[in-house]
Parts: sequence; structure tokens; C-alpha cells
Amino acid sequence: MKTDEKDRLLDHDFDGIQEFDNPIPLWLNLILFGTVVFSVVYYMYFQIGPLLGTNGWTVVEAYDSAKAENLRLRFAEIGELKADEATLIEYMQPEKREWLAVGQTVYKTNCQSCHAANGSGLVGPNLTDDHYKSVQTLSDLVTVIADGAANGAMPAWRNRLHPNELVLAAAYVASMRGQNLPGPRPAEGKEVPPWPTAVSEAPADDAPAADAGETPRTDTSEAEATAAEKTE
Ligand code: HEC
Repeated sequence: MKTDEKDRLLDHDFDGIQEFDNPIPLWLNLILFGTVVFSVVYYMYFQIGPLLGTNGWTVVEAYDSAKAENLRLRFAEIGELKADEATLIEYMQPEKREWLAVGQTVYKTNCQSCHAANGSGLVGPNLTDDHYKSVQTLSDLVTVIADGAANGAMPAWRNRLHPNELVLAAAYVASMRGQNLPGPRPAEGKEVPPWPTAVSEAPADDAPAADAGETPRTDTSEAEATAAEKTE
């Protein structure tokens, strides 16, 4: 045994097995303590950061922004919806269920704190009965949601939601009517006649409606578009 080997041998002897006193190499220590330090920073940034309201990039945020991006893409499909009765009726039809679901998501995110998850009312009025304070027609729903009511007791959503979200939320609210769920508040406002149920019951396309001049979205134009696609 060479002398330097002997110097490095530990006194400890176990069944004739001896060991050298080899310190852990620096690089291994750096990796070990590096990961410990990294884990603390990582934990603070991703777990505690969001709780403190810092803008840490988290999986949840990535998901939310991907979802928002996806919604923008899908909105490109339907263009900008008009806030009129025909559009609301159209988006309450069973074929447009997936769009009503977007309205439902808007409602669940922004409205249920005041109107309850099922629409039966809390701070705000019951949206499932036939009585309304500031609504007489379907399109009034969009107006109330966009502009608010009662000096902000019902907030204005025009600057917080996409115009299509306003229309789809209105369609969803309209669809909640008729369940007459019991709520904590008495019926408020006046009884309003039932919503028109079919697009054909809406004012005729050429009627001088408030939005005269714009081309109404109708089933015919959609049918023509499909027919045009087929002939290509
Ligand atoms: C901060 C609480 C609050 C939030 C959040 C809220 N509302 Fe309201 N909402 C009210 C109140 C209060 C009224 C009643 C206003 C009044 O007295 O005229 C109201 C009225 C309404 C009305 C008219 C009801 C009627 O009887 O005329 C509709 C429709 C409505 N809200 C839909 C919505 C939608 C959709 C959202 C989410 C985008 C929403 N609200 C979010 C409090 C709220």
C-alpha cells in the first residue's frame, strides 16, 4: 500500500473492509444544493406567487390564456353577433348548444355571485321567473348586461366582456327563464310576455327595426352559403 493511500485511509475497519476518505466532489455538491435552492425558488414562484397576486406564469394561467385564445379563434367563426332578437333566438336553438355553453361560462364566471348559479337570485333579481325590472324584450337583456342598471348595482359589462360574450350571456340568461326557481327575493318588476320562440316569430327581416340597414343573419343566407360550398 502506497503511503498516500495509507494517509487517506480512515481508521474505521469493518470485517477487514476499510475505506478511503474521499470527499464528495464539488460538482456533485453543486448539483445537490443547486436543486435544493432551485426547488425553493420554484415553489415560491409557482405556488406562493399566484397567492400573493404576482404575475407568475403558472399552468393555470397558461391554460386560461390558451382558452381565451381558442375562444377568439372560435369567435372568428361567427363574426360579431348582433344584439337583436333574431340573433338571441337563433343562439337559443338546440343546434347552437355549444355557443349557449359559452354564454353559460360567462355567466358562471361573472354573474353567479349576484344572481346565483341557477339564476334564482341573490343580490340581483331572480332570472328564472317571468318578472323583470328593466327588461321587456330579448334584446333588452343585452342592453342591461352591457350598460348595467340601478346605478351600478348591476354592473355594466360592455368594457369587460367581448361583444359576443354579451350576446351569448344574454341568450343564456334568456334560456334560464321559465324554471321559476324559488329564490331569496320576491318577484321584482313587471311580468313580461313570453320570449318569442322561433326565428320566424321575430320581426320580419324587412320590418323597420332599430337595426334597419344591417343585413340580418337568417337561416336562408346560411343555407345559400352551404349550397354554394357544395357546388364548388
Ligand atoms: C354585483 C352584483 C351583480 C353582478 C356581478 C351581476 N349582476 Fe345582474 N343585476 C344585479 C342587480 C342588483 C340587478 C337589479 C338592478 C335593478 O335594481 O334594476 C341586476 C339585474 C340584472 C338583469 C335585469 C333583471 C331585471 O329584472 O330586469 C339581468 C338580465 C342581469 N342582471 C344579468 C346579469 C348578467 C348576465 C351578469 C354577468 C355578466 C350579471 N347580471 C352580473 C347585480 C349583479
